[in-house]
Amino acid sequence: MNSTPALAPETTIAVIGRGRLGVVLARTLRQAGLAVSGPLSRGEVIPETDIALLCVPDSAIREAGTTARPRATRIGHVSGATPLDDVDFSIHPLQTFTGAESPDVFHDIGAAIAGRTPADKNIAEQLARTLGTRPFEVGDAHRAGYHAAASFASNFVLTVLDAAERLAASAGIRGDEARDLLAPLISRTVDNWLSSGATASLTGPIARGDEVTIARQRAAVDQADPALTSLFDELATATRVIARRKATV
Ligand SMILES: NC(=O)c1ccc[n+]([C@@H]2O[C@H](COP(=O)([O-])OP(=O)(O)OC[C@H]3O[C@@H](n4cnc5c(N)ncnc54)[C@H](OP(=O)(O)O)[C@@H]3O)[C@@H](O)[C@H]2O)c1
Repeated sequence: MNSTPALAPETTIAVIGRGRLGVVLARTLRQAGLAVSGPLSRGEVIPETDIALLCVPDSAIREAGTTARPRATRIGHVSGATPLDDVDFSIHPLQTFTGAESPDVFHDIGAAIAGRTPADKNIAEQLARTLGTRPFEVGDAHRAGYHAAASFASNFVLTVLDAAERLAASAGIRGDEARDLLAPLISRTVDNWLSSGATASLTGPIARGDEVTIARQRAAVDQADPALTSLFDELATATRVIARRKATV
């Protein structure tokens, strides 16, 4: 997917949905030279446009698509998990957005694309190029699984980091200081995973088969924050699977 050009600068595009991703997409496409309307809030008039890009919650895609259909030549959504039932194409930037990001946030990130027809897919790919992303295809049959992978990589990582922060607080290391002290450990772990994968990167008591230390950790978690005990158990079980894999390579 390397030869597809960016969208022509005269392309008109209406960004629908003034939320976290909609504002960043509108800002970026405008900076790229396209004729952008929006981000448009619910009820705002959608002008006649080549592309309507729905940046609304997944549950609102059908309604927003129905509103946009008479005004747009093509309609796309930016959802990772939702199939193409109500749109012509999809582009899902594989990144987390708060709304404050500058246009370079898209530079060289992945973007999952799909289209009902080859022409629709081509539009998604051109849009991906215009944003500066690296497009890759994910068909409807795999969208939910692909999106679950993204949730593990972002949302659930935050769940685990929040647990780490809470346990550090129980040991007297709080807030900013805890995040500051844990950050190098997190960064190195991610770097190692990126270069070698989880099996080769796993260290710690589970990798060493040190059940005494694991039991002491579990008791400490249970005492400090019992709401985290079941998470500890689930993660320990999943980590033992990686450790067994490690032992067999
Ligand atoms: N944020 C991310 O990190 C991220 C990353 C990749 C993909 N996405 C995708 O981007 C889409 C939007 O996510 P988000 O995080 O930007 O959500 P969000 O911050 O909740 O924003 C959604 C926006 O859509 C508006 N809206 C709802 N129904 C509408 C309608 N019928 N017409 C016009 N606007 C409508 C909402 O307005 P009200 O508040 O008034 O309802 C809200 O401003 C989702 O499909 C999501 O999967 C998000």
